[in-house]
Amino acid sequence: MKIISIIGTRPEAIKMAPVVQLLYSQIRSHQLLITAQHRGMLDQTLRIFNLTPDHDLDLMQRNQSIVDLTCRVLTGVSEVLRGERPDLVLVHGDTTTTMAASLAAFYQQIPIGHVEAGLRTRDKYSPFPEELNRRITDCLADLYFAPTELNRKLLLAENVAPEQIVVTGNTAIDALFFMKSKLAATTVTVDELSFNPKDKDYLLVTAHRRESFGEGILRICRALKEISTRYPDLQIVYPVHKNPNIHTVVHRELGACENVQLLNPLDYDQFCHLMIHSRLILTDSGGIQEEAPSLGIPVLVLRDKTERQEAVTAGTVKLVGTDVDAIVTETIRLLGEPEVYTRMSVARNPYGDGKASQRILTAIQAHFRDKRLRA
Ligand code: UD1
Ligand code: UDP
Repeated sequence: MKIISIIGTRPEAIKMAPVVQLLYSQIRSHQLLITAQHRGMLDQTLRIFNLTPDHDLDLMQRNQSIVDLTCRVLTGVSEVLRGERPDLVLVHGDTTTTMAASLAAFYQQIPIGHVEAGLRTRDKYSPFPEELNRRITDCLADLYFAPTELNRKLLLAENVAPEQIVVTGNTAIDALFFMKSKLAATTVTVDELSFNPKDKDYLLVTAHRRESFGEGILRICRALKEISTRYPDLQIVYPVHKNPNIHTVVHRELGACENVQLLNPLDYDQFCHLMIHSRLILTDSGGIQEEAPSLGIPVLVLRDKTERQEAVTAGTVKLVGTDVDAIVTETIRLLGEPEVYTRMSVARNPYGDGKASQRILTAIQAHFRDKRLRA
């Protein structure tokens, strides 16, 4: 059986790395295709996981539009699939790469396995365009690797057949466990940072969502400025996403704040190191909502809705949106009320045991075995 895994962005690379490594070791004709929807941030991550792609479409353009990118992914992936004719294409999550690569496979009637299937907010504009990307991908898929039981139920509610769904746990936890054990054995430094993460109290921040472009990111910056003024001894560390709609605004608004450190996107090992030692995380990232709960770090989510309800229910993650007062008030509460902080910082991990990749491999092998028996 020939399998092609397709990824385009940083989070896809992190969460597919354990799957791709396992597939390379177990399946002779496995290939990795990168669209390079992200260039620098993707290459940075592939390097950390020692992955070399078999196909590189090199698609990223500065400040690319979703429409242009979708067309380029569709065309580029179609060409590779036409040449390679795989038996299965694996995609991950909810990016433009995920959706357009799935469509390219569908047009050639190549079966699709969707890793991280079944996440939903049920609001098509939140997050935008990810909610529709994953719904479209789930319409096109043949095998569904659902991270949690809730994701399985959401797929069943959309009439996906039970035998097509496998609950695997989230591969983000596989990657995180791998990195945690690597960090325990090596020393990692963050050169851009002016202090040792082990010695200082700091908030860790990331934000990049498209629905926050404009007013939303401005409000996030205003809230961070307010927090930095109220707590001059507290550091705020913010590795800034490369998207110019975020990068330009964040540097303009926060560049002069003394206790705010704006960094370039960090290597995954450095970022994990910073998560582990942080006091609190403020983020609109999907992946960080999955990672932080198992590290026991409270998270305030800078979004109105989340497709990752499990950690909210577990009590380690709280939605605060992008309202300045809400962000500032909830941050002050967590910093000032130890019992609130302790309640949120109990490590609970609703996203799996770090063996999701193995379950995905087993399910793929079973799928092909059944197919052979039926033939
Ligand atoms: C994309 C995904 C989003 C995902 C996020 C993870 C879509 C529509 N969006 O958003 O779902 O959560 O990645 O980070 O699929 N850029 C660089 N270097 C990089 C990466 C990006 O310069 O390594 C800049 C480029 O100018 C690029 C722009 O960021 O055009 C936007 O990149 P794009 O992938 O379209 O959107 P993201 O906001 O990164
Ligand atoms: N991350 C990283 N370096 C950074 C910021 C984040 O390696 O500077 C990791 C983080 O641990 C998580 C993933 O990138 O695994 C999240 O990516 P992002 O926020 O870009 O995308 P999302 O998860 O929102 O799709």
